[in-house]
Amino acid sequence: MEPVNLAIIYYSATGTVHALAQAAAEGAEKAGAHVRLRKVAESAPAEAINANPAWTRHLQDTADITEAGHDDLTWADAILFGTPTRFGNPASQLRQFVETTGPLWYQGKLADKVYSAFTASNTAHGGQESTILALANTFYHWGGIIVPPGYTDPIQFQSGNPYGTSHVAGDGAPGEVALQAARYQASRVVDTAALLKAARAA
Ligand SMILES: Cc1cc2nc3c(=O)[nH]c(=O)nc-3n(C[C@H](O)[C@H](O)[C@H](O)COP(=O)(O)O)c2cc1C
Repeated sequence: MEPVNLAIIYYSATGTVHALAQAAAEGAEKAGAHVRLRKVAESAPAEAINANPAWTRHLQDTADITEAGHDDLTWADAILFGTPTRFGNPASQLRQFVETTGPLWYQGKLADKVYSAFTASNTAHGGQESTILALANTFYHWGGIIVPPGYTDPIQFQSGNPYGTSHVAGDGAPGEVALQAARYQASRVVDTAALLKAARAA
């Protein structure tokens, strides 16, 4: 059978979500998927970015990562979205990309794929679940198959978020527990998408 195509589409201002996205890519590749790691376009004004050295640096460091396009969505059997929490919601940069997908949605091209999401926030109760659940609202509209990590692996009892991998950025960069949770979440998404792909090919 053809390998699963997994698109990891994320936004990150200062690198936290990017680190989780990279770990997810590792987990998915290990699970046998073809992976496209894609950032969404930055839309914040230059003054805002330039006022934050970490934001400026991350933008430069990730300049070579390809921006997400509609082709990545149609190519994928499964899609993992990553976003920082912004007042308990996904970042507007990611929403801006999502809100260009009307024509694909209308043609049914976003249906029946596997979807899952991960996030970061500055504080432990800063809205990680609400951000992931807000993205899931869109997955319902698309007719997606939502695959959360739940507590289906021992790492989930350490990382502690059944909705999707999440990290408290205020504690520093993601450590091994969060990175392993991201790898696991991606592998679970790939395994589920592989079952569906095999059943559809049969
Ligand atoms: C406009 C704005 C809103 C934010 N809202 C929240 C929030 O509701 N809860 C929280 O814990 N952190 C909040 N943060 C902090 C970000 O979630 C945090 O910086 C981000 O997860 C870091 O991810 P990144 O390094 O990938 O950009 C906010 C940050 C900004 C700039």
